Amino acid sequence: MQQDLEQMQKEAEEAALSAADSRSLYEAKTKFLGRTGLVTALLKGMKDLAAEARPAFGKKVNELREKLEAKFAACESALKAKELRQKLAEERVDVTMPGRKGKKGTLHPVTRIKNQLVDIFAGMGFEIYEGPEIESDYYNFTALNTPADHPARDMQDTFYLSEEFLLRTQTSAGQIRYMEKKKPPFKMLSPGKVFRSDEDATHSPMFHQMEGLVVDKGITLCDLQGMLNEFARTMFSETSKTRLRPSYFPFTEPSVEVDVSCASCGGKGCSLCKGTGWIEVLGAGMVNRRVLENCGIDPDEYTGFAFGMGVERIAMLKYGINNIKLMTENDVRFLEQFKD
Ligand code: DAH
Repeated sequence: MQQDLEQMQKEAEEAALSAADSRSLYEAKTKFLGRTGLVTALLKGMKDLAAEARPAFGKKVNELREKLEAKFAACESALKAKELRQKLAEERVDVTMPGRKGKKGTLHPVTRIKNQLVDIFAGMGFEIYEGPEIESDYYNFTALNTPADHPARDMQDTFYLSEEFLLRTQTSAGQIRYMEKKKPPFKMLSPGKVFRSDEDATHSPMFHQMEGLVVDKGITLCDLQGMLNEFARTMFSETSKTRLRPSYFPFTEPSVEVDVSCASCGGKGCSLCKGTGWIEVLGAGMVNRRVLENCGIDPDEYTGFAFGMGVERIAMLKYGINNIKLMTENDVRFLEQFKD
C-alpha cells in the first residue's frame, strides 16, 4: 500500500513537471486530484479496509493529497510566469521603429492667396464683407451703372437664373450691398466666388475675386496707387512697383488697369511678362459718382476708389501655374506642392 502511494506520488509529480502548458497541467491535476481522480478514489476505497487500518491510511492519503496540491500549485505559477514571459516576448513593440506617416492635407493655392490678401488688407484696416453668390440683376449690374441696355454687360458672359436673378459675375456687387448699409468713411474687402460662361487655359466658369472699396472725404487716385504699391510689395516682392493704364469700367471714373512690375525678371522683360516687364493684375478706379448716388452717398462730399482682382490669376503668377484647370481638378500631385 505504502508503495502504491509512493508510486502515485511519483507519477503525479512527473505529470505535473512535464506539463508543457496550463491546459495539460490542469488535465494532470484533474486526473489525480479531481472529484473522480485517482487520489480521491483511494479515499473512497477506504471503506474496504479493515477498520483499524483506516486512520493511518487516511492520514497518508491526505498527506499525499496536500503534497500534490502544493506541487501542482507550484508548477502552475511557474508555468503561468513562463507563459506570460512568452506572451510579452511575442507581443513586443519596437518603439524605435519609424512610424507610418499619415497623409497631411495642405491649403489650396487659392485659399493661400486669399488668406494672404485678407491679411494684407485687414492690416490696413479693411473690413471683410461677403456678399451672396446668387445676386439680383440690380446689384450685379444696374446699381453699378450698367443698366440693361448697356454695352458693358457684354464684357461678362452671365449665367442667368431668371430674369431677375443670376450667378454674380463680379464681387463688385458687394460694393452696393455694403454701401447701402454703411456710412462713410469705410474700407471694405470682399472675397468670393464669381461665375462666367467662359473657359480656356486662363478662364474658368467659376473663379474667385477680391474686391476692395475705400470711401472717405478727399480720396484720390494717389491713395489708390499708394495702397496698391504696398499690396504689391507684400504680395510679390520688396521692390515691386505698380503702373496705372487708362481703362473702362462702368462703375469707376476714371478707370484703370493696374500692372505690377514683373517679380520674375525685376522689370527687365522675360517670358512670364512677355518681354514687357509688367504684368496686368487688377482693375480699379475712382468710384463713379452715379454708383455713390445709387447708395445714398453724396458724391460732392465723398469720393472713393475701388479695385477688383482675380485670386486664381494672382496664384498663377505667384506660383508659376500655367493652366487654371489645375485649380479645380484637385489632383493631389498638384496640391501637395503647396506646403508651408
Ligand atoms: N469687376 C471687375 C471685373 O470683374 C473688376 C473691377 C474693376 C473691380 C474695377 C473694381 C474696379 O472694383 O474698380 O472685371
